[in-house]
Amino acid sequence: MPFLKPKILRFESLPSTNTELARLASEGGEEGLAIVADEQTAGRGRLQRSWSSPKGAGLYFSILLRPEMPTDQWPLITFMAALAVGDALNEGGGVTTDIKWPNDLLSGERKICGILAEAIETPAGRAVIVGIGINLTNAAFPSELSDVATSVSEASGQEPEREAILAALLRALPRWYSLLNEPGGREKIVAAWSSRSSYATGKLVQVSNGDDVWQGTTCGVEPDGALRLDTGNGEVKLVRAGDVYKVRSSTTGGHGGPPLHLRRE
Ligand code: BTN
Repeated sequence: MPFLKPKILRFESLPSTNTELARLASEGGEEGLAIVADEQTAGRGRLQRSWSSPKGAGLYFSILLRPEMPTDQWPLITFMAALAVGDALNEGGGVTTDIKWPNDLLSGERKICGILAEAIETPAGRAVIVGIGINLTNAAFPSELSDVATSVSEASGQEPEREAILAALLRALPRWYSLLNEPGGREKIVAAWSSRSSYATGKLVQVSNGDDVWQGTTCGVEPDGALRLDTGNGEVKLVRAGDVYKVRSSTTGGHGGPPLHLRRE
């Protein structure tokens, strides 16, 4: 497994760094090819959402990986990326972060970074584009999201330095990607992710996959990255996709209440 050597292409404006990198990957782009844009006009988020990406307000970054591990382990790539972003925000932005499953970086319980990993088919084999969007200032997101979103500038109280954060990210990604690919590395990635996430264990949450909403207490992460949810009736549900929301215990009738499974109409 060669050491990851990011090679950066810079753009003033792109529809989406993920989309552009997928195009380059299909033309033979190598592992480590990466894109940074000053703005995105059609930035994309998880679960088909859009990602607001005004000029200069965020770090909009994507990197191409061509992993050799079995595809059922690929969710760990997003764990690896979340660990790298956590280091980058700490070293380059002076911000300490929590991780919300699967890979939202939070500061003070508000989202500061989102990660969109997309598996693609290319002539050279399956690949993954890891897209990272970091809010540098509050101009990165609409003001109505200010209860749930934050930025490096708000969290650190300092002028954010995009290049310092990017440089730290480019140091951190090869480090964590090497660990992921070492023998025993996947277990170490899950352990490191769990140690940095207040959501890994003992958090009362609701999980929504678009159709269903589940409520329970988190009780660890499976070796493939699935979140374990104790729904309260002796059953542990494994969550592989969806959104996780912290629940205030006063709204649930307490920890010992009946298991909840709501289906959206
Ligand atoms: C999320 O929904 O939390 C994931 C957001 C990912 C946004 C980044 S910004 C750079 C890259 N290009 C995109 O279009 N999306 C990702």
